[in-house]
Amino acid sequence: MADIPASLAGARIPGHIAVIMDGNGRWAKQQGHRRIFGHENGAESVREITRECARLGVKRLTLYAFSADNWKRPDREVAFLMRLLRRYLVEERREIMENNIRFTAIGRIHNLPEDVRRELDQTIAMSRQNTGMVLCLALSYGARQELADAVRAIAEEVRAGRLDPAAIDEGTISGHLYAPGAEDPDLLIRTGGDVRVSNFLLWQISYTELWVTPVMWPEFRRERLHEAILDYSRRDRRFGQIREAE
Ligand code: FPP
Repeated sequence: MADIPASLAGARIPGHIAVIMDGNGRWAKQQGHRRIFGHENGAESVREITRECARLGVKRLTLYAFSADNWKRPDREVAFLMRLLRRYLVEERREIMENNIRFTAIGRIHNLPEDVRRELDQTIAMSRQNTGMVLCLALSYGARQELADAVRAIAEEVRAGRLDPAAIDEGTISGHLYAPGAEDPDLLIRTGGDVRVSNFLLWQISYTELWVTPVMWPEFRRERLHEAILDYSRRDRRFGQIREAE
């Protein structure tokens, strides 16, 4: 059962929330620390936002945890992020199970270090039967790469004679993305103030409502999430159509 706080009474809760968690490094610098301090505190925001979304009855939460382009960061920062991710995967299992969360991941997972993949596989397997919110981490993820992978898989099916090119439609493409069958995000939140989508879920966000906040990810906690949901709730989503009375 969803547990809605008074500040969100009557609000429409988005079914699928996607988040570009930006600003860890800048936040750490503002505090006089190294960038990795920001990532550590960002992991705390991940915990709090996940727990709160599950409590509110959100069906799916997709977090951009590591982009395909993040591999270009200095080796030390990449290594730190991988260690943090591995630790998170182990430490969060209890919380994931207690909250009936089904854990999944999207991206070119095969590019992750073997020890991270092992923990990832275990967390996915352990939570497979859970029936509550789906928590999806985008890891080594890029939307253009996802589309290229989908097109390649579709082309293979055509070559094998299992698919007629004339039958390819939007559903064919959606069905070959990393999370086939997942509903598109209703709300995309970006922290850190930059107004761009940074190669995240390009196909899936065609009609998604966008919320950009200058708040840096380590400071994006429960109350900030409520603000985003309230704003979303007031929006008039027309999906390219007009309202009947117009
Ligand atoms: C952006 O901050 C964030 C990332 C590159 C990765 C997100 C990682 C976390 C939130 C921490 C760990 C996550 C998990 C799931 C354990 P940035 O470094 O780009 O910030 P900047 O724009 O200020 O440089």
